[in-house]
Amino acid sequence: MKKKSHLLLYLLLPTLVAFGQKEDVEKFRPLYHFTPQQNWMNDPNGLVYHQGLYHLFYQYHPYSSKWGPMHWGHAMSKDLVDWEHRNTALYPDSLGTIFSGSAIVDKDNTAGFGPDALIAIYTSNHESRINGKRKRTQTQSIAYSLDNGVTWTKYAGNPVLPNPGKSAFRDPKVIWHDNSAKWVMSLTAGDSIAFYGSKNLKDWDKLSDFGRDYGAHGGVWECPDLFKMDYKGKEVWVLIVSLNPGGPNGGSATQYFIGDFDGKVFQAYDKETRWLDWGTDNYAGVTWSNVGNRHLLIGWMSNWQYANVVPTEKWRSTMTTVRELSLFEANGKLYLKNFPIAGYDTKFKRQNLNSPDTNEIDISGLDNAFKISMKNVDLTKGFKFIFDNKMNEILTFQYHKSHNYFAINRAETGLIAFNNNFPKKMIADNIIVKDKCDIDIYMDKTSIEVFVDGGKIAMTSLFFNENDFDHLTIEGSYSGTAILSVLRK
Ligand code: FRU
Repeated sequence: MKKKSHLLLYLLLPTLVAFGQKEDVEKFRPLYHFTPQQNWMNDPNGLVYHQGLYHLFYQYHPYSSKWGPMHWGHAMSKDLVDWEHRNTALYPDSLGTIFSGSAIVDKDNTAGFGPDALIAIYTSNHESRINGKRKRTQTQSIAYSLDNGVTWTKYAGNPVLPNPGKSAFRDPKVIWHDNSAKWVMSLTAGDSIAFYGSKNLKDWDKLSDFGRDYGAHGGVWECPDLFKMDYKGKEVWVLIVSLNPGGPNGGSATQYFIGDFDGKVFQAYDKETRWLDWGTDNYAGVTWSNVGNRHLLIGWMSNWQYANVVPTEKWRSTMTTVRELSLFEANGKLYLKNFPIAGYDTKFKRQNLNSPDTNEIDISGLDNAFKISMKNVDLTKGFKFIFDNKMNEILTFQYHKSHNYFAINRAETGLIAFNNNFPKKMIADNIIVKDKCDIDIYMDKTSIEVFVDGGKIAMTSLFFNENDFDHLTIEGSYSGTAILSVLRK
C-alpha cells in the first residue's frame, strides 16, 4: 500500500511541479494586453493593416526569456484587442539578426514583388569579432509576403541600404509620401534621425538629417516614426523618437516633435522636448501603416533599465494598450494626445463607482484588471488614488498641487528589489491642464496606464504584486461621473 502511494506521487510529481510553475508563470500575466506566449519580446515591429487583419510583429528571442539574437515574432488581430499568436516570421541570416523595422502594403507594386505585397523593412544587425573586438554593422533589408504575412521571402539583393560608417543605423520606418510620390524612410543614426527616399524600396537616396540640436539627448535615439496628421484642415507632421537612456524618469522613454516635412527635410516648429508618455514603461512605440487617417500606436511596456530581469521569467514583456493619437493646442503650441482605442470597451462591463462622497472602494475579486473613468476631477486642492491590499502592497497616482505634477509611486508595491531603478515615484510635469480634468486609469494585473484629460498627459508603469489590489481610497473630489469598468469573464 505504502509503495503504491509512493509510486502515485512519483508519477504525479512532474504534473504537480509543472502546475506549480504554471501558477508562478501566469501570476503576472496581464488579461487584456498583448504578451508573447513564452520567451523574450521587445519593440513592436512591422505594424500594418492588410485585408481585414492588423499585424503585430515584434522583437523576439524564441529560445530564451532574455534579450538575444533577434527574430520577428508575429500576431494578428481583427480588432487590435484580441490577438492570435502566429509562427515566428523572420529568422536571422548571414546578414545578421533581425532588428526593429516596419511594414507597408505595396499597392502599386513599386518593388515588383507583386501588387498588394506586404513588405517588411528591417535592420540586419551583424556582429563579428575583429582582433578580439566586437564590431557591429547595421544595414537595412527587406522581405516580402504574398499571403498576408504568413510566409516571408527575403529579397536576394539585401541589404538595400548599406551602412555609411555609423555604429547606430537602424529601425527603418517607411511611409508613402504622396506629394513627392516616393517612399520615405526614417532611420536612427545615433544622435539624430536620417531620412532616405526611394521609388522602389530597393534603391535609397539620403534626403536629410534631423535632431542634433533638438529635444532630449540623454542617450541614443531609436525607433523613429514620421507621419502626417491633420489639425483643423492644416497638414502637420509628427516625428516620434525613442530615447535610451535619458527619459524624464530614468532609462527609456519616447519623445516627439511637431513640424513640417516637404518630402526632404523635417523642420520642427520649436525646440521644446515633448514626452509621449511620462511613465517609465512605454518605449519604442510606433504607429500602424495602411489605416487611413488614423494614427494608432503601440509601445513596448518596459524599460531597458530592468526589462531583462522583471520577475516573469518564462515570458518577458507586455505591449501597452493600442492608443489613438490626435493633436491638441495648449499655451499656443501643438501637442499629441494618446488614449486607448475604443475597442477595449468590448472587454469591459460598466459598474458605477460609489457616489462622489464615498472614497473607500472595494475592488476585491476583480483580478486586478479594471478601468476607472472619472470626470471633472478638482485639481485645486490636489487629488490622490491609493490602491492597496492586505499584504500592504501600495500603488498611488496623485496630482500634487504645490509642485504641479502628476505622479505614480510604485516604491511600495510587491516585488521591487530585482533592480535598483525599479522602486520609484515617477513624475509628469504639468503645463497642460488647469483646475479640472478627466482621469482614466487602465489597470491590468501588473501595469497601470493613466490618461489625464483624454491623454494630454499619459503615464505608464509596471509593478509586480504578490496579491491583487482589493481596496481603493480616493482622496480629493470630482464633480462628474465616476465609472468603474470590470473585465467581462
Ligand atoms: C530599441 C532597440 C532598437 C533595436 C532593437 C533590438 O528597443 O534597441 O533600436 O532595433 O531594440 O532588439
